[in-house]
Amino acid sequence: MAKTVAEGFFTDKRLKEAKKLIQEALKEHQSKITGVKAADEGLKESYTELLKKVADYRGGALFYNYLGSGIGHGPLVELADGSVKYDFITGIGVHYMGHSHPGVIEAQIDGAVSNTVMNGHLQQNLDTARLLELLSTQACKNGAEVKNVFLTTSGAMANENAFKIILQKRTPASRFFAFEKCFAGRTLGMAWVTDKAAYRQGLPKTIDVDYIPFYDANDHQGSIDRAVYAMKKSITRFPGGHAGFCMELIQGENGSWVGHKDFFEALIKVCQENSISVFIDEVQTFARTNKLFTFQYFGLDKHADVVAIGKNSQVCATFFKDDHKPKPGLMSQTFTGSSSQIAASYYVINEIVNGDYMGEGGKIDKLHARFKSNLEKIAKKHPEKLSGPFGIGAMVAMSVFKGDEAKTKAFTFKLFENGVLSFMAGGHPTARVRFLMPVLVTEEKHIDEVCSIIEKTLEAME
Ligand SMILES: Cc1ncc(COP(=O)(O)O)c(C=O)c1O
Repeated sequence: MAKTVAEGFFTDKRLKEAKKLIQEALKEHQSKITGVKAADEGLKESYTELLKKVADYRGGALFYNYLGSGIGHGPLVELADGSVKYDFITGIGVHYMGHSHPGVIEAQIDGAVSNTVMNGHLQQNLDTARLLELLSTQACKNGAEVKNVFLTTSGAMANENAFKIILQKRTPASRFFAFEKCFAGRTLGMAWVTDKAAYRQGLPKTIDVDYIPFYDANDHQGSIDRAVYAMKKSITRFPGGHAGFCMELIQGENGSWVGHKDFFEALIKVCQENSISVFIDEVQTFARTNKLFTFQYFGLDKHADVVAIGKNSQVCATFFKDDHKPKPGLMSQTFTGSSSQIAASYYVINEIVNGDYMGEGGKIDKLHARFKSNLEKIAKKHPEKLSGPFGIGAMVAMSVFKGDEAKTKAFTFKLFENGVLSFMAGGHPTARVRFLMPVLVTEEKHIDEVCSIIEKTLEAME
């Protein structure tokens, strides 16, 4: 069979040899990273200067004093001051494969030696074809119809595309439903969907959103009734005015609040009765429950009209049903993603789908169970300092100091100093500390070490 020049190049034995050498060097060097470590005295000064330079050039200090050195080992990451920390927030749920994962590095090298840095909608390489097939097949494997996949470069942009698709289909309806305290991204459009006033201060209104209270596990039927009532009331107030409902099935930025199948089905029924499209924002939840998509976890496959993913998927994408196909001209973008990103995305998603991560009793369930039981033990010992844990699968959260925002923030900074990366979510009086662990490389012993650092950090705080 005829071969392209590229096939000859990518299978050239010199390339294979070079990759082998890189892997050998990586293994040798990353084996020195074995656990949490304080900064090197000799690097402290230059690191402080580096942080100052970054703050000056980016127009503001970094949240944490975090500048990675460029290497890590599983869930451990080395910073440029020589310190080593557990990365249990993974760039807010992005580094699913941890740090310096050999398989991901190999995929990235394949991307890096291909002809262009970036792929775009006008010119993309063949790797995109296999990625689209993988994403589409996985999304539709239980009967969902969102087979069309449009790649993009951020979660917010994947959401923008979802909104545009729905608004065009449902025109002249222009309003959206979303859940109270949801997060949808930071573009001009998404800033008006995200339910946080501070994130849109001074920005002109771009979209009308009616907020529906989220599910309350302590009041199952009551919260369903209240949400359905709020939706119906709003539909009566704006007849024919709603185009779509943007649903985060597990609220991530708000602190891992988990919804319920009955709750979503009740709201989706109202959507269907009123020609309102169901949009599921999976930017944060993708690959975090024991199903690849959280709409699969809740069994909502048949109801999804449009879905967005990002973060763990390494590339971002909007999925849509045939009946939501946009008209020519509505969507395009220069970039779909970098060549390395697209290759890494294929590798990571394949690994998730074919490894032992998903399904009941899979790795995600096991990691969750271990994290939960460790945190429960700490909560029992220190009920005034820790409550929870909350969340599901690889989205774990806890409350410290009864959800006090200032103390929660202080705790996350202390935890960072002590060697664990976490992040604050939500706000007073329900602020939480959350963890998005690197599932591919986390083992139970890592969770035990992280929990022991959590406990020591809490004990040292008043
Ligand atoms: C649910 C959800 N949607 C959208 C976004 C926006 O993604 P990005 O930051 O990649 O634009 C986020 C980011 O945290 C998110 O959690």
